[in-house]
Amino acid sequence: MQDVMEFLRGRRTYRRFLPKPVPEEVLRDALEAARIASCGANRQTLKYVLVQTPSVVAEMNRLVRWAAFLPPEQGQPKAGETPTAFIAVFQDESLPGVNDTDAGLALGSLTAAAWGHGVGSCIMGAIDRPAIKTLLGLDKQERLRLHSVVALGYPAHHSRVVPMQGDDVRYYLDENRDYCVPKRAMKEILLGEF
Ligand SMILES: Cc1cc2nc3c(=O)[nH]c(=O)nc-3n(C[C@H](O)[C@H](O)[C@H](O)COP(=O)(O)O)c2cc1C
Repeated sequence: MQDVMEFLRGRRTYRRFLPKPVPEEVLRDALEAARIASCGANRQTLKYVLVQTPSVVAEMNRLVRWAAFLPPEQGQPKAGETPTAFIAVFQDESLPGVNDTDAGLALGSLTAAAWGHGVGSCIMGAIDRPAIKTLLGLDKQERLRLHSVVALGYPAHHSRVVPMQGDDVRYYLDENRDYCVPKRAMKEILLGEF
């Protein structure tokens, strides 16, 4: 088991993948991690759809928007680089206590469990919600709000945290097409110590 801080530094967003399927047991672990995540009052309002059939994964990929800070030729995975699975995350609004903090915690656990197996992910909110609900046969289920989808696959690039220049939050690619992700310095975010 690698050092937990090293693990978290590597658990970045990945947007280009190897054409190698994610094993079933890895996807099950990711879902299990989401299932047991902490949530307000233990209400458990989240539901999931697993997509790993190649034709449906390809359809999903057409309904998501990659890397808004990059031109498409840099940020969008090309044929042979696309994710090999997606997990769609729904909030069941027929249950009390739906909130976005719970979704965030579940997404954090899900993507960490995948990364524990070397599987990279991209949490995606810039998605065509109505079209994805239709694709997944859930368009008539008004109680289900599509929160986000997670793209999954074995990474075909590296990604590293870099110091932020000024206030520029935009990630970029280096000369090897690896992602550089600026994060604010500790002295900027730690407001006090008592
Ligand atoms: C709620 C949320 C929605 C996101 N939506 C998208 C998206 O639609 N498309 C995309 O390419 N990346 C998306 N991302 C990935 C972010 O751009 C990424 O987390 C950010 O640039 C920081 O990179 P890092 O995850 O490696 O720290 C999303 C991330 C989060 C947490």
